[in-house]
Amino acid sequence: LFAAVDLAPRDPILGLNEQFNADPNPNKVNLGVGVYTDENGKLPLLACVAEAERQIQAAPKPRGYLPIDGIAAYDRAVQELVFGADAAVLAEGRVATVQGLGGTGGLKIGADFLRRLNPAAAVLISDPSWENHRALFTQAGFTVGAYPYYDAARRGIDVAGMLAALEGAAPGTVVVLHACCHNPTGYDLSPADWERVIATVKARGLVPFLDMAYQGFGEGIAEDGAVIGRFLAADVDFLVSTSFSKSFSLYGERVGALSIVCRSKDEATRVLSQLKIVIRTNYSNPPTHGAQVVATVLTTPALRRMWEEELAGMRNRIRQMRLLLVEKLKAAGVSRDMGFITEQKGMFSYSGLGQAQMQRLRDEFGVYGVDSGRICIAALNTRNIDAVARAIAAVS
Ligand code: LMR
Repeated sequence: LFAAVDLAPRDPILGLNEQFNADPNPNKVNLGVGVYTDENGKLPLLACVAEAERQIQAAPKPRGYLPIDGIAAYDRAVQELVFGADAAVLAEGRVATVQGLGGTGGLKIGADFLRRLNPAAAVLISDPSWENHRALFTQAGFTVGAYPYYDAARRGIDVAGMLAALEGAAPGTVVVLHACCHNPTGYDLSPADWERVIATVKARGLVPFLDMAYQGFGEGIAEDGAVIGRFLAADVDFLVSTSFSKSFSLYGERVGALSIVCRSKDEATRVLSQLKIVIRTNYSNPPTHGAQVVATVLTTPALRRMWEEELAGMRNRIRQMRLLLVEKLKAAGVSRDMGFITEQKGMFSYSGLGQAQMQRLRDEFGVYGVDSGRICIAALNTRNIDAVARAIAAVS
C-alpha cells in the first residue's frame, strides 16, 4: 500500500534534536532549536506557571470540549497583550482571535483561511526566514517567494531591496513579516523602516501576516510589540500569529493564537466563523491546560508581575551570553570582529558560518546549530560557552 512513499528529509530544525539526542558525545551542546535554557542548561518551569497550575489544580474541573475558537478569557487576554487593553480596535470588536496550537498553529490557521479566501494570491517571506515558513505556506497551497532581507556584506537589513520587492508585489500578496527578534538573523527593522514597509504594504494593497513568536525576548514586551501599534495607527488590516511557547517556557503545551484585524465588527464576526471551520476540520478544538495557565497568569496581577520579571530575567541572561560569547570568541583566537552578535535581537545569532562549518561543529565538537549558520544564544551558559567558542574558532 505504501510502497511508493518516499523517505522525507529530516526537519531542518526539529530533526537536529533527533540527531542531538542520538549523539553519545558527553560534551554535546544543542544550539539548534529555539529553546531557552537557564544557567544550569535546564528548561525552566516559570514560577508564575507553577503557581497558576497550583491554583488550577486546587479547584480541579472536568475536561469538556473547549469552544472551537478556544477559551474566551484566553482569547481576550491575548488581545489585550497584543493590541493593548485600551486599543480602539478591541472596543470596536474589529479583531477576530482564536486560540492556536503554538505560533505555528496560528500561522497554519491563517494560511488555510487566506488560501480559501484568495487562492490566486502568492506569499512572500523574508530571505532568509524561519525554515518552516516556506514549508507551511507551500503545504497550504501557496506559491511562496521571498523578499530580500539579510544583507550579509553589511550585516544588516537590505531595506531598499525589501521595499522594492514589496512595491513590485501584486495586490493581495501575503507578506509574512517578523514582528520582532527576526528568526533566523536577529536583525529587526528600525521604527523608521517599519513605517516605510507599512506605507508600502498599504499603498500596494498587500496582506501583512505578522509572526510574533518572541515577544519579550528583544527589548521588552511593549517594545517588541510596538509594530502592532504601528499597523493599527496606519489603519491597515492584518493578521498576527502569537505564541507563548518561548515567553512562558510552555513549548510542549502548544499555546498560541491567531488574531485578524478587520474593518468592522460585522467583518470580524464573519472572519471568525471561517476560522472556526478551518479549526474544526483540522483538529476540532484546542486543548485546555496551557491556555488556562496563560490566561490565569495574564489576568492575575501578582502572577502577571511575576511573569514580566521572569521574562526580563531570560531576556537579560541572553544579552549577557551575547556579550560573553563575543569575549570568548576573541579569547579563542577569532580575529574577526564578532561584535555583531550583541546587535542581534532575540534568541538567535546568525553567525555567518556556512553549512560545511556547521556540519564540522556537529561532527567534530558536538555543537549543534542550524545549517543556515543560526545558533541559539539562549542555550548558552557559563559552563558550555568556552567549549562552544573554541569550537567556532576551530571551524572559522
Ligand atoms: C525555532 O525556530 O527553532 C523555533 O521556532 C522552534 C521551531 O518550531 O522551529
